[in-house]
Amino acid sequence: MYSFEALAKEFSGRFNTKHFPSTVPQLYEPAEYFLSIGGKRIRPVMCLMANELFGSLHPDAWHVANAIELFHNFTLIHDDIMDKAPLRRGVQTVHTKYGEPTAVLAGDVMIVVAYEYLNKIGSGNLQKILSIFNRTAREVCEGQQLDMEFEKQQQVSMNEYVHMITLKTSVLLAASLQMGGILGGSSEGNQEHLHAFGKNLGIAFQIQDDYLDAFGDPEKFGKQPGGDIRMNKKTFLLIRALETATDTQRKELVRLMKDNPEDKVQRTLGLFRECGVDEWSKDLKDKYMEKALQHLDDIAVISTRKKPLRELADFLVQRDY
Ligand code: IPE
Ligand code: IPE
Ligand code: MG
Ligand code: MG
Ligand code: MG
Repeated sequence: MYSFEALAKEFSGRFNTKHFPSTVPQLYEPAEYFLSIGGKRIRPVMCLMANELFGSLHPDAWHVANAIELFHNFTLIHDDIMDKAPLRRGVQTVHTKYGEPTAVLAGDVMIVVAYEYLNKIGSGNLQKILSIFNRTAREVCEGQQLDMEFEKQQQVSMNEYVHMITLKTSVLLAASLQMGGILGGSSEGNQEHLHAFGKNLGIAFQIQDDYLDAFGDPEKFGKQPGGDIRMNKKTFLLIRALETATDTQRKELVRLMKDNPEDKVQRTLGLFRECGVDEWSKDLKDKYMEKALQHLDDIAVISTRKKPLRELADFLVQRDY
């Protein structure tokens, strides 16, 4: 059995090759550019780790892991267009460097190649994996649309926020684990716990992402600081701030969203701090981490086999990048 680091290294070694032909370099170079700048590769590694919970790695797991990482990168390229993000992983986003039309196509072709990898897996698991993959892809689109709808809405509840981040982010972590479980020969019951583990962990993961977008060190995080504030994203930080603010603070927050002043990010961050939402984020994260770990505990395999997944979970919610 591999540790998280060893598996991440092994996956990256295999994944960091050319995935696209040399024809039409105007399309494929931007795609290769994006893949070559790295990323944490957590989703494919989660798939491999879930497989290893139940037995040795299935050869098809590498194809599924590739498909997952390509799908994830496709979502990021399109997400950066939607979010008008200039930076990712410390470098220029694809649409900033190559223009929006090319970025759209680079994302499109990436998801096509993801399906080409899925098409390589054995017929025994293909249908099950494909239906999970497709359901998840559809859910991510739904979550992304809700995320944009919420930009225009002044009032978003904490429940609506959790629903939205479940769709846009956490179902992919959940599905990665479940598909790994299937390849490892897991029972249905264990698959359900794996999915629920990933779903709750994914919520905690997006909470951390939203926290870092506001309070992270931009050098480490690699994205434009305050991107969510600029876009009026309804993150838990804003929702909680609006819930706990005094009348004056609430009016100021609403005005900052409407007027978009030069110093909007700084002033919003100041109000977040005054309302104590930075401190509170830990409580919210812990709530979902606890649920996640309960499901990990409930998976019926000996506890020592779960160590890499426990380590990964801790890393994901403590990370600063
Ligand atoms: C970023 O995901 C998008 C979210 C769902 C928050 P990651 O933080 O896993 O991005 P990379 O692949 O490591 O860059
Ligand atoms: C991204 O959420 C979710 C997907 C890409 C599906 P964010 O918009 O918060 O992700 P980052 O912060 O740009 O990575
Ligand atoms: Mg987004
Ligand atoms: Mg984004
Ligand atoms: Mg974000």
